[in-house]
Amino acid sequence: MPTQTPAPMSPEWWRTAVIYQVYPRSFADASGDGVGDLPGVTSRLDHLAELGVDAVWLSPFYRSPQNDAGYDVSDYCDVDPLFGTLADADALIARAHELGLRVIVDVVPNHSSSEHRWFQEALAAGPGAAERDRYIFRAGRGPDGAEPPNNWLSMFGGPAWTRITEADGTPGPWYLHLFDATQPDFDWTNPWVADRFDEVLRFWFDRGADGFRIDVAHGLAKATSLPDYEVDPLRTGGEWASDDHPYWGRNEVHEIWRRWRAIADSYDGDRALVAEAWVTPLSKMARWVRHDELHQAFNFGYLMTPWDAIELRAVIDESLAAFEGVGAPSTWVLSNHDTIRHPFRLSVKEPLPHNIGIGPKSADRPDEAPALARGRAATLVMLALPGSAYVYQGEELGLPEAIDIPDDARQDPTFFRTPEGVYGRDGCRVPLPWEADAPAFGFSPTGASWLPQPASWAEYAASAQVGVEGSTLEMYKSALRLRREHALGEGRITWNESIEDVLDFTVGDVRVLVNLSDEEVPLPGSDVLLASAPVSGTLPHDTTVWLRA
Ligand code: NOJ
Repeated sequence: MPTQTPAPMSPEWWRTAVIYQVYPRSFADASGDGVGDLPGVTSRLDHLAELGVDAVWLSPFYRSPQNDAGYDVSDYCDVDPLFGTLADADALIARAHELGLRVIVDVVPNHSSSEHRWFQEALAAGPGAAERDRYIFRAGRGPDGAEPPNNWLSMFGGPAWTRITEADGTPGPWYLHLFDATQPDFDWTNPWVADRFDEVLRFWFDRGADGFRIDVAHGLAKATSLPDYEVDPLRTGGEWASDDHPYWGRNEVHEIWRRWRAIADSYDGDRALVAEAWVTPLSKMARWVRHDELHQAFNFGYLMTPWDAIELRAVIDESLAAFEGVGAPSTWVLSNHDTIRHPFRLSVKEPLPHNIGIGPKSADRPDEAPALARGRAATLVMLALPGSAYVYQGEELGLPEAIDIPDDARQDPTFFRTPEGVYGRDGCRVPLPWEADAPAFGFSPTGASWLPQPASWAEYAASAQVGVEGSTLEMYKSALRLRREHALGEGRITWNESIEDVLDFTVGDVRVLVNLSDEEVPLPGSDVLLASAPVSGTLPHDTTVWLRA
């Protein structure tokens, strides 16, 4: 079991860290079955060290029937054979630490898989048994209890309730699942549940994990009366602001985070907890990162901001004020495994709600080259900002959203749970291209790939970009090196006066100009440290430049 921790970066390393999200299914496949695995991740960690990130966050690799790509966990303390073994997880953590990379693992406390022993025991124990209180079972409405207990909808479409059949064949109660029917929600008012998760945290902290990313950290507490609530499941999130929402962003969750913070603090080496919390406004989200709660929260307000100068400046200011107000760093994120890759997301004409993808029948299909230019410009804004930033695997290669995935290859439950087959998140989850000329572009030695890779991805392969001046990979490397050298993560931002649709700000000794207008604009004479596109005398449309201030 690995015991060493990486060389100290600085105390509270998470305040300024750039954290790289590995989606293990799609990163690198050592076994050749077409699904990425932990030995594959370990074999490619050098790429991340060379890239210059500080930490790696791994999406779930635990035992799971994989109905929601591993976010349906059937054993929190074991590795799914699809991804390897516990020894492989230990080896990964040890190698990452050798390379100076911290490791954040994912914990999924809102729901388990219906195949988890805890849920199976609850079913078997029968009506009225204490085991049933681990989850949210309720009698149905109507004379025969044939209607769900309330009108809540699953985030993946359809009702959020499924009725069980008791062992004797009689129709039983319903259980709540805010996600897929195979993901029953825990009842966090039951201390038994909290005790089990204390054990899960300790299990991975003891194995050397440097932190946890907490799935659905806004959803664990439900209003006990389970009132009806009218909601559009494909919404953008506006209504999550309310404190009396029956399941999102309720204040009861904070007690859980204080308990988890005490556990993290009891370990050496500055362990960190980050919330996946879809909460608006940011001033409310900041409650998740008060000094005795979590260390960071993903800044989805920033992620959802369109490519617009006024809105971008406003969300940066709002983020810094909200998080600084509670003594926490702001985080910045543009892409992850649930959203359209940011070059495309920022380029569609009509912004799409979170979780909704682009597919073969979508009318609004951005062109690859201009989308990439915009995506690169957005990246150089994000990486200049003070605080901590998240990079999603493949964005350093400039990967486009994979749009033309045929229906019969799609995997996201959203596609199957919505009558009209809403394109979900498969387009941002396609396995990475490592080598331009190898089978599956080097993702898998056999050429297998659980989602099809577009043929055009040869040109995006890491091998085609390494050492190539101006490539997206080299731009990310330079940005991360300069960010460190100029201590941008610790800096403060000041806004300079600028013309319309141009952002101009200084962090430390770096001045950042971003042209969000449709025209090229004059560029002040100064040393260019880095640019998202070639610049000389003027700053082209959709370009960001870092100048020596
Ligand atoms: C958020 C995760 O990022 C997403 O992939 C998953 O489907 C849901 N939570 C449910 O666990």
